Amino acid sequence: MANLSEIEQNILQSAEVYVKHELGQENTGHDWWHIHRVVRSAEKIAAAEHADMFVCMLAAYLHDIADEKLNPSKEAGMAKVENWLQEHSIAVKDREHILEIISTMSYNGGHNPPMRTIEGQVVQDADRLDAVGAISIARAFVYAGAKGHLIYDPSIKPREAMSTDQYRNEESTAINHFYEKLLKLKDLMNTEYGRKLAEQRHAFMEQYLEQFFNEWEGEVV
Ligand code: ADP
Ligand code: NI
Repeated sequence: MANLSEIEQNILQSAEVYVKHELGQENTGHDWWHIHRVVRSAEKIAAAEHADMFVCMLAAYLHDIADEKLNPSKEAGMAKVENWLQEHSIAVKDREHILEIISTMSYNGGHNPPMRTIEGQVVQDADRLDAVGAISIARAFVYAGAKGHLIYDPSIKPREAMSTDQYRNEESTAINHFYEKLLKLKDLMNTEYGRKLAEQRHAFMEQYLEQFFNEWEGEVV
């Protein structure tokens, strides 16, 4: 990898092994391959934005370790990330930066304040890109399936913007999730590079929905 010292590359490899182990069993959208995709996107966006490659990639690897769904609390999850960074002798400045990114980057209904640093913006964009486009469609249906939600039900209306925590406990459908979150992401992108990709992927989702609703009503030959 360009611009990374051997030590940094080794740390990223350790992070990969750690995350594969921790998230291997996750099956509601935060599995290892989600991390793989977010890291690859973060790498490309970081290069385009001239951001600190090591901080972006390490934060991308670790960003879901602290997820509340996988931990007793957000604090317990953050402590896990902090311990890992300490054990791997990450410089205090980078450690604090990565912890700040991970603790503030979640969607939260779009209500969180903007990311403070370019590295935070890069990682948040990379994570959001995985919720826009072809893969995000697959993730939404897998998530809905895991929760026992329907594909679609015209009598269940999309919910207004709420924090993820609030709406996690409520009934919805996979198709409603597009209107509750996925279609909003393109306008929330931080970087030029991320926004361009999100726009292409967004157009694909709109096309998908158009076809979906045509089929729902029984289209004519
Ligand atoms: P993140 O923490 O990455 O912002 P979430 O934990 O909210 O995302 O969701 C993980 C994946 O599951 C994402 O692709 C998201 O779009 C999808 N998802 C979350 N909530 C729902 C829902 N109610 N219905 C369908 N898909 C969902
Ligand atoms: Ni994520």
